[in-house]
Amino acid sequence: MRKILVTGGAGYIGSHTCVELLEAGHEIIIYDNFSNSSPLAIKRIEEITGKAINFVSGDILDQKTLEQTIHLYNCDTVIHFAGLKSVGESTSDPISYYENNVAGTLSLLKAMKSLNVKNIVFSSSATVYGQPQFLPLTETHPLSTTNPYGNSKLVIENILRDVFASSPDWSITILRYFNPAGAHSSGLIGEDPLDTPNNLMPYVAQVAIGKLKELTVFGNDYDTPDGTGVRDYIHVTDLARGHLKAIEQIGESQCLEINLGTGVGYSVIDIVNAFKKASNKEVPFKFAPRRKGDVATCFANPNYAKQTLGWEATLGIDDMCKDHWKWQETNPNGYNPAE
Ligand code: NAD
Ligand code: WQD
Repeated sequence: MRKILVTGGAGYIGSHTCVELLEAGHEIIIYDNFSNSSPLAIKRIEEITGKAINFVSGDILDQKTLEQTIHLYNCDTVIHFAGLKSVGESTSDPISYYENNVAGTLSLLKAMKSLNVKNIVFSSSATVYGQPQFLPLTETHPLSTTNPYGNSKLVIENILRDVFASSPDWSITILRYFNPAGAHSSGLIGEDPLDTPNNLMPYVAQVAIGKLKELTVFGNDYDTPDGTGVRDYIHVTDLARGHLKAIEQIGESQCLEINLGTGVGYSVIDIVNAFKKASNKEVPFKFAPRRKGDVATCFANPNYAKQTLGWEATLGIDDMCKDHWKWQETNPNGYNPAE
C-alpha cells in the first residue's frame, strides 16, 4: 500500500486513476488548483469508491504548500498529472505552458527532493514522437515535437532523465498516453471541457447531444483507409489501470518510458460511426481542410507495457463510446449543473 500525492487528481485522467488506486487499497491525497476541473469530481470519486478523500487546493508552482502536503500526509510516491494540455492554447500562450508544466514540475521535484520522496509517475504523451517515422510507435522511436505543449512534455521528460542520471535512487516512470477517451462506467466522472472541446471524442459527444451543431472533420485526403486521421484511442479506465500497474511495479532504481495505447488505430469516421451506434443519435459532420500540425496516423506498439507492467488495454472502441455517452447524457453540462 502506498501513500500517493496525485497532482491534477481532480482532472479527467487523474479522477479515473484515483478511483482505481482507492479501489486497490492505496491512500491518496489530491493536489489540484482546479484551473481545469471541479471539486465536484472529488465528491463523485468518493461516491464511486465509498471512501473519503483528502485533498488540497493548491498550485504545483507553490513549492512550500507541496512540501507541507507531502510531509503532512507522509507521501512516499507522486503521480504527476497537473498541467495544461491544449495544443492550440499552448501556441497562443506558450509562457503559461512552460510555467505551469515545466516550472510546475521543477517545483514539484524540488519539494520531493527536499523530503527525500523519489518515486514519481509522470503523464507524458505520444506527442513526443512528433511526425511518426515508423508505425507502430515503440518507445525507442526518435523524439521531436511541433508545438509548445509538446515541447513542455519533452523538456520534462529530459529533466526526469537527467534527475535519474544524477541520482539513480529515484524511481521514475514516464507514461506516454495515446488518445484517452470514454468515462467511468458509472457515468459519474468523465471529461468536462470548460470550452468548446478540441479533442475528437468530447466534440462528437456534444454534437450527439445537440450542444454543438456538427463535427468538422479535419482532412479527408490523408493516406489512410478512408482519408481521415487515424489514432489509437484508449479507454480512460484502461489508462487509469496502467497507472495502478506502474505504482505496483515501482522499483528501487529505474527510469522507464512506457507507451499506454491499445495498438489499434481508428479513423475519425470510425469514431463517428461507433458513437452513433452507442448513442443512437445522429452525428452530422462536414469535411474541412487538415488541421495544422496533425499527422495522418498514430498508434502505439503496446508490447513494452505488457512486458514491464503486465498491463494491456482490455476495453474497445464500443466501450469508450458507450461510457462517454453515458457520462455526456447524464451530465449534459459536465460538473456544472447550473449552466
Ligand atoms: P485535465 O486538464 O483534465 O487535468 C489536469 C488537472 O491538473 C486539472 O484538474 C487542473 O485543474 C490541474 N492543474 C493544472 N495546472 C495546475 C497547477 N499549476 N497546479 C495544480 N493543478 C493544476 O487533463 P487530463 O486530460 O486529465 O490530463 C492529465 C495529464 O495527462 C496532463 O499532464 C496532460 O498533459 C497529460 N495528457 C493528456 C492527454 C489527453 O488527451 N487528455 C494525452 C496525453 C497526456
Ligand atoms: C484526433 C483526430 C483530428 C477534432 C491531441 C494532442 C495530443 C494528446 C491527445 C495531450 C485527428 C480529428 C479532431 C475535431 C477532427 N494530448 N479531429 N475534428 O490531435 O491526435 O491528439 O490530444 O497530450 O498531444 O495533440 O487528438 O482528439 O484532437 O484528434 O476531425 O473537431 O480527430 O484531426 O485526426 P490528437 P484529437
